[in-house]
Amino acid sequence: MKRPIAAIAGTGRGLPAHVMTNHDFASIGIETSHEWIMERSGISERRVAKNGETTCSMAADAGRKAMEVAGVHPGEIDVIVLSTATPDRLLPSTAVDIQAELGATRAAAFDIGAACAGWLYAMTTAEGLIMSGTAETALVIGSEKMSAIVDWKDRATCVLFGDGAGAAVLKRSKHGKGILSAYMRSDGKLADLLYRPDGGATTPMSVEVLEKRSHLVRMAGREVFKHAVRSMADAADRALDGARLTGSDIDLLIPHQANVRIIEATAKHSGIPMDKVYVNVDRYGNTSSASIPIALNEAIESGRIKDGSTVMMVAFGAGFTWASMVIRF
Ligand code: ACO
Repeated sequence: MKRPIAAIAGTGRGLPAHVMTNHDFASIGIETSHEWIMERSGISERRVAKNGETTCSMAADAGRKAMEVAGVHPGEIDVIVLSTATPDRLLPSTAVDIQAELGATRAAAFDIGAACAGWLYAMTTAEGLIMSGTAETALVIGSEKMSAIVDWKDRATCVLFGDGAGAAVLKRSKHGKGILSAYMRSDGKLADLLYRPDGGATTPMSVEVLEKRSHLVRMAGREVFKHAVRSMADAADRALDGARLTGSDIDLLIPHQANVRIIEATAKHSGIPMDKVYVNVDRYGNTSSASIPIALNEAIESGRIKDGSTVMMVAFGAGFTWASMVIRF
């Protein structure tokens, strides 16, 4: 087991106030049912950004709370790493808007794009910056306004996603606690199973793109499901191996909150009983890279993570990308 280099000093979450339940889809003309959505995904409701809430505003909300818990002043942040698939603008990064919003004047700020696995990619990147001596204190945020990129006419995808943000302050580790292992992988051959076909630099936004709605998320749900189960199992194995631990050493598993069936399969693979698995997909849906830091923050606040707890986090997303991390608190 490696000596921890970086540890979490505080976490926070920023969620839109508006709750959209499964029953609310009828009011926007989507033919679905609470029963169908619950049975296939375990989702009952999700938050939807309204009234000027943005990827930046949710991230800043989460970031402020994380800094407050950590007892860190915005001026002490050396780097802001934002994971997002829904930047507010295509240029510049949303991380610089967050920096300005928080008054983190000394920070370098940049976005990372690794879809639902992005926050673990961002944490691993921040750990590396701390390890190299480039940064002492990092603010690592996952923030997503998925409601801006899902196709609200496609019932197979729009029911699955939600908006929100989660953040952690990562600092040089003291007392031997912190990140015990981290793992990241990608497979770009499978990119077209979950993607936004158009609207980027290859086929910029046009009337034709808008008419085809091809700037919005397209997903081959069954294929994604299959790969998610396989890759999250692989990621869990790698994180445990890296920390020289087994499933029975894990006090809490925090999987990416995409679908309760994927979560159950991941827990079963690692021999972790469901009472040691954090699940909030029922309340927030899939908030992409915000899902793990939101769940982590809730688990800490509710006392499910205590001093000395060993926590494993596992994620999978578009790309495909997958990642995992074991942290001792
Ligand atoms: N309400 C009612 N019926 C629906 C809905 C809906 N919202 N959406 C699709 N259906 C219908 C389909 O039209 C289809 O009908 P048909 O048989 O008459 O053609 C039927 O339900 C079955 O559709 P499938 O897509 O085959 O349903 P499946 O059992 O595969 O479940 C689901 C779909 C929930 C998307 C599943 O494939 C899944 O969970 N995939 C993983 C997707 C995921 O989690 N993606 C998140 C991004 S990646 C990540 O974060 C891990």
